[in-house]
Amino acid sequence: MKITVPKHIGFIMDGNGRWAKKRLLPRSLGHREGVKALKRVIDACIDYGVEYVTVYTFSTENWNRPKKEVDALMNLIREFKDKDFKNEFNKPVRVRFIGNIDGLPDDIATAVKEVELSSKDVKDFCLVIALNYGAKDEIVHACNKMRETGVVATNENIGDYLYTAGIPDPDLIVRTGGEKRLSNFLLLQSAYAEFEFLDVLWPDMDKKDVAQIMKDYSKRERKYGRVK
Ligand code: IPE
Ligand code: IPE
Ligand code: MG
Repeated sequence: MKITVPKHIGFIMDGNGRWAKKRLLPRSLGHREGVKALKRVIDACIDYGVEYVTVYTFSTENWNRPKKEVDALMNLIREFKDKDFKNEFNKPVRVRFIGNIDGLPDDIATAVKEVELSSKDVKDFCLVIALNYGAKDEIVHACNKMRETGVVATNENIGDYLYTAGIPDPDLIVRTGGEKRLSNFLLLQSAYAEFEFLDVLWPDMDKKDVAQIMKDYSKRERKYGRVK
């Protein structure tokens, strides 16, 4: 079977809490295991030749979780930012963040900007980290920026005002954990994306699941409103 590789995949990494609960572990350990799955999935995507992977790490609604869990997630992000993105994955990785970065704790907001700057010249692969991200927040932010600069919105220019400016729209959105919803992830950008909902819990994701995703995607016919 001929494999068609999507240029950009978005992952809604869901199921960390349930993975931990099944093992009678604290939810924070599920998130920690989720970081390991992230590395496996990114390496597999790099090997297939995917150019952009966007991962949903923390939504604007996730602040409503218990403080202990929010703190554990922020601490994981603190650890992640210290990684050496030139050597962490199968290839050097450019990292971009999307979301309300100024709404994060100061040390994380500063680190985010440093990681983006230090990896900005990497060409082949871009990891986009959605952090304190919500599509509604993104659209409101874009509208306000357009109003401030007196720009009239068009189908063509709206993308330039989103957090994802310069990043092609995702071809495929994958959600693990069995729920079939977007939870405020890339609402505009996924206008013509394909969707894949997997029952596998995110910390269990591995290369085989990525291979299956590629096979399923290869069977899709993308029509963009046209007749083939
Ligand atoms: C997704 O896993 C990770 C984040 C939202 C940060 P969850 O923590 O939502 O896991 P479940 O859905 O409770 O299993
Ligand atoms: C979506 O998962 C957010 C992330 C994966 C970061 P949630 O677990 O927060 O979504 P809901 O609450 O089930 O819709
Ligand atoms: Mg969840």
